[in-house]
Amino acid sequence: MRKPYIAANWKMTKTIEETEEFIRSFIPLVKDINDVDILIAPPFTALSAASSLLKDTNIKLGAQNMYFEENGAYTGEISPRMLLSAGCSTVIIGHSERRQYFQETDEIVNKKIKLARANNLEVILCIGESLEEREANKTFEVLENQLAGSLKDLSLDEITIAYEPIWAIGTGKTASKEQANEAHTCVREWLRKNKDGADDVRIQYGGSVKPDNVVELMSQPEVDGALVGGASLEAESFSKIVAGAVKK
Ligand code: 13P
Repeated sequence: MRKPYIAANWKMTKTIEETEEFIRSFIPLVKDINDVDILIAPPFTALSAASSLLKDTNIKLGAQNMYFEENGAYTGEISPRMLLSAGCSTVIIGHSERRQYFQETDEIVNKKIKLARANNLEVILCIGESLEEREANKTFEVLENQLAGSLKDLSLDEITIAYEPIWAIGTGKTASKEQANEAHTCVREWLRKNKDGADDVRIQYGGSVKPDNVVELMSQPEVDGALVGGASLEAESFSKIVAGAVKK
């Protein structure tokens, strides 16, 4: 069975002090939950402080992005070695906000994943359709194209897929459990057809996940976890999501 995996994507929120305050209150709330993998992805500036506090806990640290070159003259960018030295085990790649506001294409996402894996970082790859694409019945086609482009020449080792329908992100509109499971099934089938080890890959759902809808989403056979934005910003709310992710 795939172990449930709940990740917090804090996006551009929280200073170092706010990150430390969150982590201090969050650790005791989840310390006895061993059957869920837990990850927090604060902004770059708070990674190192977060890493010190998370040492010897059951909570992993992730970054929200990285660049696709090892080092050099790329002002403002962050390399995988920098993430490792800041204490990250994981990096989120291809979030729809990166694709939408920073023109990240599947080709760029593919380069980033290759470099992350070459540096032994685990990856959460985000994919998902827009509202127009869903309404035009193109959801599966969009997901398959994103998978093909992003995972070109890559194995599935240490890769988690986050299915995040763009219309459900930060809108309060969650995909129904059936919509989530149907999209995850499409992802799983594409992985089975094209890669080895598809049944071990965890597929997280993201988009307005909250304490009161996580149990229902997690009841679906193909939903292995969640990537949480807004509801991960408060320790109590995020701890309830983690607790609700234990598969019954
Ligand atoms: P919300 O949970 O705020 O909808 O954000 C989802 C998301 O984008 C996580 O990466």
